[in-house]
Amino acid sequence: MFHVDLAPHADHEACAFSLLDGEEKARWHRFLVPGAGRRFALCRAALRINLAERLDCSNSRLSFRYGEHGKPYALVDGQRVHTGFNVSHCGLHGLLVFASNDRIGIDVAERTPGRDLDGIASLVYGPLERRMLSLASGLQKEHLFFRLWSMKEALIKALGSGFSLNPSGFEVPEAMLRGDRSGVFRFPHAPSDSWHLIDLGEQRFAAAFAYRMSD
Ligand SMILES: CC(C)(COP(=O)(O)OP(=O)(O)OC[C@H]1O[C@@H](n2cnc3c(N)ncnc32)[C@H](O)[C@@H]1OP(=O)(O)O)[C@@H](O)C(=O)NCCC(=O)NCCS
Repeated sequence: MFHVDLAPHADHEACAFSLLDGEEKARWHRFLVPGAGRRFALCRAALRINLAERLDCSNSRLSFRYGEHGKPYALVDGQRVHTGFNVSHCGLHGLLVFASNDRIGIDVAERTPGRDLDGIASLVYGPLERRMLSLASGLQKEHLFFRLWSMKEALIKALGSGFSLNPSGFEVPEAMLRGDRSGVFRFPHAPSDSWHLIDLGEQRFAAAFAYRMSD
């Protein structure tokens, strides 16, 4: 796993921008939310540098395409490669992971205070997750909320389903809900596939990584 520092830095941003292809530069110009373009460019440039090294190719030979729900995959000279990756960015932190296939997902979330945690939880968390959250308060509640968020997002991103999967329709393993840092997970709609879920949270952010075990 790689951490990308997303703090504003004119030189880093200019260097990152120079590594993007025409499509990516056009996308960068369309970002409206302040900081979104910076996060995209710095993470995409870090991704390009890592992939070029892993695939032993120049940056200019790399391009990206997107699956049905937006999950990106890499191509070299227009041919899809097997190497999988996933990217997440939030606030000042980006995370990248790589694997031999694309059944991997990563998520990072800064713990921003002042949100309606119970209101959001009622939309995206399952019954046991909501119950555990309702038993917590203050900082402990905030930590649990973002911990759960990052774990569920990592699983959704490993699957690649995006918004097409209702996040309240599955729950993280109960032992992880109670504090374990890793566990085995199965989606209710596909119980024969096992996923390894790892809590990567630390002081600066909540984060999680998920990968399919049988691949
Ligand atoms: C689209 C989605 C990836 C949004 O992610 P996000 O949390 O806003 O943003 P992140 O920074 O973690 O991830 C964005 C990156 O994931 C990758 N990505 C985009 N679509 C993806 C997908 N369907 N699957 C996996 N990865 C995806 C991209 O690399 C993207 O970065 P880039 O555009 O700069 O290259 C996806 O997770 C989603 O739709 N989730 C459902 C939302 C939800 O209900 N969440 C509740 C969680 S409890």
